[in-house]
Amino acid sequence: MSRSSVLVTRRIPSSVLARLQAAFDVDLYVGEGAMPREALLARVRGKRALVCLLTDRVDRELVDAGAALRIVSNIAVGYDNIDVGYARSRGIVVTNTPDVLTEAVADFTWGLILDITRRIAEGDRLIRRGVWKGWALDFMLGSELRGKQLGIVGMGRIGLSVAARAPAFGMQVAYTSLVPPDAAGYAGGLPLPPMTAMSLDQLLATSHVVSLHVPLAPDTRHLIDRRALARMKRSAYLVNTSRGPVVDEEALAWALGEKLISGAALDVYEREPLVHPDLLGLENVVLAAHLGSATTETRTAMADLAASNVLAVLAGQPPLTPVPQPV
Ligand code: GLV
Repeated sequence: MSRSSVLVTRRIPSSVLARLQAAFDVDLYVGEGAMPREALLARVRGKRALVCLLTDRVDRELVDAGAALRIVSNIAVGYDNIDVGYARSRGIVVTNTPDVLTEAVADFTWGLILDITRRIAEGDRLIRRGVWKGWALDFMLGSELRGKQLGIVGMGRIGLSVAARAPAFGMQVAYTSLVPPDAAGYAGGLPLPPMTAMSLDQLLATSHVVSLHVPLAPDTRHLIDRRALARMKRSAYLVNTSRGPVVDEEALAWALGEKLISGAALDVYEREPLVHPDLLGLENVVLAAHLGSATTETRTAMADLAASNVLAVLAGQPPLTPVPQPV
């Protein structure tokens, strides 16, 4: 029997590639950056599986080009790059990589919270410009977290893991979420703190740090717009490790420039790798390079899970982590 062929759109860890190569003919894109669209459209033809990343747009055109596909396996927890409904209508299973990245993203979120509230990157920039004049009692004062409220928007797996770290910094947790928190499903190993549910408006108006953990969907696009930013306290900070378009970047640049909020820390952007030019000149914003899950351990686990999904589906078994059915 001829072996199934699988398209992998970026380099993946060699141990994971070897697992795929043992079972399938693997067509691996080895160019720099994302696979060019034309190449993707051409090379997906005849493939039984597509292992892709959030930088690959799996839309109707691509699904039609990949008429032989049985599975689209995204190496990411988010899957807004995929037209899931259309893929499913063509009998294609769509999978993502939840759970394995949860703790890494939660750690990174706290890194951003500490960075923006204690002005770590801002001080780094100052030193590199050669203008630091040394220690002074009132120099570059930040803001403490202890006794203040962390507002989590979207209490899914990552939101819960971010919440679990809050007591270490003396913060109380408030949240707003479409789905109720699945405390029983939390596997991060820390005790979960008390968490107060509130409306988005109430959370924005009362939190010291607002951290976003919602998927990108039509109802979360520009969830944080001018109106939402104007509701936040002037002393508050916004942190986004979810998806860029959840925040209206132009509105955020306006709010930061007008000092309507104290600062923001972003890991994701509306048009990656572009960042709104008005944000680039501001000191009160930390700009990270979409690194929430970027540890060797976690990225390897993500690629491995994506490969396991392909191996299962092409063996006629159910996928390990299909993307959730729409609510
Ligand atoms: C990264 O952004 C992911 O969705 O895994």
